[in-house]
Amino acid sequence: MSQLSRIDQNATAQDRPRHIAIIMDGNGRWARGRGLPRPAGHREGVKSVRRVVEACRKHQVEALTLFAFSSENWKRPPTEVGLLMDLLISTLRKEIDSLHKNGVQVRFIGDRAPFSDKLRKLMESSEVLTRDNPGLQLTIALNYGGQWDIAEATRKIAAQVQSGDITLSDINPELLGKQLCLAELPEPDLFIRTGGEQRISNFLLWQLAYTELYFTDTLWPDFDELCLVDALKSFARRQRRFGQTGEQVERIKGA
Ligand code: IPE
Ligand code: IPE
Ligand code: MG
Repeated sequence: MSQLSRIDQNATAQDRPRHIAIIMDGNGRWARGRGLPRPAGHREGVKSVRRVVEACRKHQVEALTLFAFSSENWKRPPTEVGLLMDLLISTLRKEIDSLHKNGVQVRFIGDRAPFSDKLRKLMESSEVLTRDNPGLQLTIALNYGGQWDIAEATRKIAAQVQSGDITLSDINPELLGKQLCLAELPEPDLFIRTGGEQRISNFLLWQLAYTELYFTDTLWPDFDELCLVDALKSFARRQRRFGQTGEQVERIKGA
């Protein structure tokens, strides 16, 4: 499907997002505000993940993509990075069976090379266990960066040119898009960032091209189903025009 026809299709889409992407930010400030160490905020943030996965299932969202660790987060103090890695491992171990039982399909995006064997194996076994599940498609971005994603896709395309499988004239946005992470999912309809910052922080740079952006001051550990419903309501009020005029969109809707 061409980029344009995919966008046209989206223009007639319903009021509910099929795919939500979230930057879960504000754990550190949540903890600091309570006089607690930052790790307490990360631990509390895990509870929000559980709540939001449940809420997405309840509200029939098809895909949820969560930014859990960015390619830039390695710059944090080693103790915090270590704590985050431990928390990822313990959370995955604890949650994977109930995710599986609830039909959730779990996948990871990002460069896995720097992770420990333990974490890598756990990521793989979680993906294998849940790969045929029919429910919510949950993608967790770990050591992910939007620039890395685009660079990887470019490298794959360059290799195809080099091997003669494609020529330079075959390269277009559709071809590049297919090499990127999340290509098999509908494009994110709604982007949520908690914690008050209004930036993308190298998350899904390409994939967010026409996504509706929603920023909230709520810190991630405080984010619950009601907060998600507020974001869904905001989404439902928006008119997605994809370059067309408002009148054109109304006409398509009415047709
Ligand atoms: C988001 O919360 C969690 C990760 C980046 C892993 P932060 O840890 O960035 O929280 P703040 O922004 O310092 O409050
Ligand atoms: C973005 O949050 C990454 C994740 C939530 C995993 P950060 O807290 O790292 O973003 P910046 O550094 O403030 O932009
Ligand atoms: Mg932050």
